[in-house]
Amino acid sequence: MSSASRAGAGRDDVIRVTGGRPLHGRLCVGGSKNATLPILAACLLTAEPVRVTNLAEVTDTQVMLEILKGLGCDVDLPLVHAADVSGRVSPELARKMRASLVLLGPLLARRGEVRLPRPGGDDIGTRRVEQHIGGLRRLGAVVEETPEEFIASADRLHGARIVLDMPTVTGTENLMMAAVLAKGRTEILNAAREPHVQDLALFLNGLGAQVTGAGTDEIVVEGVEALHGGEHSIRPDYLEAGTYAIAVAATGGEIVLECSPSGDLNVPVIKLQQAGVEVDVGELEISIRRPRSSPLRAVDLTTWVHPGFPTDLQAQYMALMTQAEGLSVISEYIFENRFQHVAELVKMGARIESLDGRTKAVHGPSRLRGTDLEVPDIRAGAAMVIAALCAEGESMLHHAWHVDRGYPDMVTRLAELGADIARVTGDGLAQVPRGSFE
Ligand code: EPU
Repeated sequence: MSSASRAGAGRDDVIRVTGGRPLHGRLCVGGSKNATLPILAACLLTAEPVRVTNLAEVTDTQVMLEILKGLGCDVDLPLVHAADVSGRVSPELARKMRASLVLLGPLLARRGEVRLPRPGGDDIGTRRVEQHIGGLRRLGAVVEETPEEFIASADRLHGARIVLDMPTVTGTENLMMAAVLAKGRTEILNAAREPHVQDLALFLNGLGAQVTGAGTDEIVVEGVEALHGGEHSIRPDYLEAGTYAIAVAATGGEIVLECSPSGDLNVPVIKLQQAGVEVDVGELEISIRRPRSSPLRAVDLTTWVHPGFPTDLQAQYMALMTQAEGLSVISEYIFENRFQHVAELVKMGARIESLDGRTKAVHGPSRLRGTDLEVPDIRAGAAMVIAALCAEGESMLHHAWHVDRGYPDMVTRLAELGADIARVTGDGLAQVPRGSFE
């Protein structure tokens, strides 16, 4: 069982979905979760107040805010003020999500020392951290790893040329944040190019950092003495937008995604169009339409680092392909254990076979039947919701709190679009009330 599963054990939040209805309506996409988390961590880099708006209204954001408060930050949203911070992170909170790892770089840069409990998070692969640690060492840090925690220290970090073995997202973010206050120039080669990496760089530059090249595989950071306060609005979440786009493609219907990050979704949009879905991308809106009489075509897919097809939409796209005519070959090249949704989809009647450890063949279309399902992680949970929306009868999704880690108020939003969906048990503990974050 993953540490994330342990964190949620004991409160079986259940979502009930009765399939068969199309989705119709408009939806405003929220701030990006994967930008919110490192940007909140980066608030630790300055002693001046920072105003951050459009935060992702998800439970992982709540956890990060609790961590910041525990470190001594004054959090009065949208203001985050790290006038004075300690270097010790609460183990219980750190273990609730993988992204607590992004505290390592900023705390080290700000405090010169940090003890960070090993993070929890989705059980989707081995998720090693040697690139984070190796990079910090190149910047002059002394890092000790114990089974429980990372202990890092440095008088002052210095610039270095760091070549990543793979373009790790949080690794790139950690090193970028560590380097902004280092002495001299840092080059991060083979850097991750994801939209959230770009948003973090934009945020840092707004505070006076000198980061160039974010969005390419070569990021250069010229270290500065200190960062000042500032303000930033988090970029819309292309993964939330992509998930709803895939959902309406699967159920049929028509939705307009407002406040959408159109440029960040290029490849998923192409994959939807190839499947026969009408997608119209405007500057601030994306409309997605599939008449229920219009069949879906099977499309092959390989996940890749940005700008390739995101691993965070692979499970949802596989749920879609169970409804498409023909054979879809889906390969997952980012995480070695990101097929936990497959067994649940098969329980519902999907025909999916393994071609090798990284590749599945989906034979469609299948008539899915509602049943009891176990949600293993955020994106697999979204895939199960999509499959359940297409299925005949009722599905009960257990451990649904995983979904709340990444999607603001998904149950209400889908109900507003016409889905027959409700939270059955659990008191919505894991749910963040709308409007909690500006
Ligand atoms: N890797 C290593 N060594 C390292 C770092 C990474 O071997 O030092 C490997 C990983 O094991 C994995 C691959 O490199 O096989 C990519 O991992 P990466 O470090 O890029 O992932 P991450 O930073 O842990 C972020 C997102 C994930 C998203 C991945 C890939 C955040 C907070 N998390 O994770 O988001 O799947 O990048 O894009 O940004 C989600 O939102 O549901 C989610 C899991």
